[in-house]
Amino acid sequence: MPALNSKKFAFIGAGKMGETLIKGILASSEVKNEQIVATARHEKRLGQLRERLKISTTLNNIEAAESADVVLLCVKPQAAAGILAELQSVLKPNQVVISIVASVTTGLIEDKLLNKVPVVRAMPNTPSLVGAGMTAICGGKFSEKRHVTLTENIFNLIGRTIVLDENYFDSVTGLSASGPAFIYIIIESLAEGGVKAGLPRDVATELAAQTCLGAAKMVIDTQEHPAVLKDNVTTPAGCTIDGILKLEEGGLRVTLIKAIVEAAKRAKSLIND
Ligand SMILES: NC(=O)c1ccc[n+]([C@@H]2O[C@H](COP(=O)([O-])OP(=O)(O)OC[C@H]3O[C@@H](n4cnc5c(N)ncnc54)[C@H](OP(=O)(O)O)[C@@H]3O)[C@@H](O)[C@H]2O)c1
Repeated sequence: MPALNSKKFAFIGAGKMGETLIKGILASSEVKNEQIVATARHEKRLGQLRERLKISTTLNNIEAAESADVVLLCVKPQAAAGILAELQSVLKPNQVVISIVASVTTGLIEDKLLNKVPVVRAMPNTPSLVGAGMTAICGGKFSEKRHVTLTENIFNLIGRTIVLDENYFDSVTGLSASGPAFIYIIIESLAEGGVKAGLPRDVATELAAQTCLGAAKMVIDTQEHPAVLKDNVTTPAGCTIDGILKLEEGGLRVTLIKAIVEAAKRAKSLIND
């Protein structure tokens, strides 16, 4: 495993997701604060990052990128072209660029850079902050297995990883990157149900959240099909089947399927904004 404690990391455009990744990586203790430099567009943002994360910061992307072994591109899709133009001759084949930018392909990044720089694409999600992230990873045409492994090692510090063909990335963005927002709405709604059924709100929210966590862990740990696990909870003529009937009446499945499909469709077009 490529050692992370000997690498220097530059987070280019450390906004919400960049900060989440830095926090998660620091929490693992594999990487020290001194190994990280972060950039942003405004000095005010850099001040927040220094105060919260105790890392060095600069407004100068070139300086940050030059000093790093691993350059993490964390800007919005619309800002990516400008940053890549700025860094086109700075980034070298002995570095690796890891991009978490939605909608921007490894090919697009490689084309903008003047050197044959290894590029790896990663699509994480915000539960990375609490060590429960899900990150899809794919290597570009100049990346080797060791670059993909290095990226897996970084994102394994903050959750699970999966190496996937890049063709799947817009779908991944719609499912696991946008997904936490959908699940929060589900948790909020389950809690509302609990309140309607007479529970105090804080109790209802805790019950709803832990139930989602437990159900997700059952799917992952047992590797059973979710339908089998659902059937196991559903006693004939019991209360669960009455609840399921209401879910089906309300079109929960179709609504969730459409939500993922729409988010994935949008992921494809972000670059054109
Ligand atoms: N949020 C998610 O759940 C999630 C999940 C997976 C992937 N992503 C991807 O992560 C990326 C960032 O999303 P986000 O939510 O973190 O956005 P964000 O909070 O807006 O962060 C973007 C950061 O980029 C900085 N920036 C903009 N232009 C710059 C420049 N020219 N030089 C240096 N820094 C620059 C901004 O600095 P200032 O703050 O100073 O303006 C800001 O801090 C997106 O591409 C998104 O697709 C997000």
